[in-house]
Amino acid sequence: MRHTGQVQTGAPAPRPAISSRAERLAGTVDLPGDKSISHRALMLSSLAVGRTTISGLLESEDVLATACALNQLGASVRRLDDGEWVVDGVGVGGLRAPEDVLDVGNAGTAARLLLGILSTHNLRAVMTGDASLRKRPMARVTGPLAQMGARFDCTRGDLLPLTVWGAATPVPIEYAPPVASAQVKSAILLAGLNTMGATTVVERVATRDHTERMLRCFGCVVDEERTPERTRITVCGWQEMTAVDLAVPADPSSAAFVVAAALLAGDGAITAASVCLNPLRTGLFDILREMGADFHVKNVHEISGEPVGDIVCRSGPLRAVDVPAKHAASMIDEYPALAVVSATASGTTRFNGIGELRVKESDRLAVIADGLALCGVKVRTGADWMEIDGSGGHPVQGTGIAATVMTQLDHRIAMSFLVLGLASRDGVLVDDTAIIDTSFPGFVPLMQSLGAPIELSPI
Ligand code: S3P
Repeated sequence: MRHTGQVQTGAPAPRPAISSRAERLAGTVDLPGDKSISHRALMLSSLAVGRTTISGLLESEDVLATACALNQLGASVRRLDDGEWVVDGVGVGGLRAPEDVLDVGNAGTAARLLLGILSTHNLRAVMTGDASLRKRPMARVTGPLAQMGARFDCTRGDLLPLTVWGAATPVPIEYAPPVASAQVKSAILLAGLNTMGATTVVERVATRDHTERMLRCFGCVVDEERTPERTRITVCGWQEMTAVDLAVPADPSSAAFVVAAALLAGDGAITAASVCLNPLRTGLFDILREMGADFHVKNVHEISGEPVGDIVCRSGPLRAVDVPAKHAASMIDEYPALAVVSATASGTTRFNGIGELRVKESDRLAVIADGLALCGVKVRTGADWMEIDGSGGHPVQGTGIAATVMTQLDHRIAMSFLVLGLASRDGVLVDDTAIIDTSFPGFVPLMQSLGAPIELSPI
């Protein structure tokens, strides 16, 4: 049977689960494909001329939502029986107006990058998402995209659902995003593909560069001018993009949870194969080394323009560190995992410059702090900082009953607190693990295969 990328993005029934103290975690795992790279692989191949094949695509709810939207827009995106995906692209500027609403579920990357693409197609489309995505700010992309000539109509503030009218004759811009965001950068560069002239994004803080790397795989010229203060990234419109064979490496943001679990378990070591080691994604791994983690990387090589390698991590004591603001962009999705690791370190870990966590799938700063407090961990927070007092290697949560953490439709909150349960005295129950399918389908069975005591459980 062929998968057409059609996906139900309505909320599935919640699936609570409880995790308990892990004496030992050990084994080698193949992790799912990188979410950021998977979205981009589907989008760029839809804009290329010819047939792209993609192996290792992440088949999570978020990425399937992108596949579904691109099919609605006239590209042909489908899965073959062997798990490879095949995309027949329509060429730059060749997408057509969708007949129905584009529902991208929980996926912020799908929403913002697709808005970039749609902004410079002469069409009208309506986009929506789930209850979490409908709370997330879109002005960060609609602002600059409106400067290129697109029009947007939101019913509430800058939130989804919205209608986009793409520009018939878009104009190129030079734009310096006020927040460090790869989604904003990518939305503008993707809009620039169908815009005559040079579109430039100026970054003061470098963010993940998967769009730039992958555009080059499709034969596009992307110009980068670096100074110590900023990077200017320029793409000229109407370049021909030629189909290629792509392979998606494993997701370092998913690896983060397996690594965190290995560090928190009483004993053992895990190996995760072929993980993307793009230097703009590996901030967590640098911080863990600073905390004294037994963490190393081997077999480094390149896949589809991205550095990859095998990660080996062993359980052991950790010391608290200060995590400076300059690391935020390279580990923005890893703070929930690092927060639960810090809860068992020796000393107080301080995170600075993390205000962006407030506009992720949930207000992560608040949800992490509330969850840790429920687990008996001392936490202090401000507008854009957090301090966590670690237990010095002792189990957290000693009230005699499992702590119940509400995940607020946030996959990374669900995974983080299941991981914290592995270092708890009485267990941690999360109200919903179904949302984990957003980025890491099969997380619970994979953790169980390493020896993690995680069980589906009624609340
Ligand atoms: C992403 C960029 C980041 C990250 C998100 C994926 C991407 O968001 O948090 O999960 O694929 O470009 P921001 O651009 O909002 O920082």
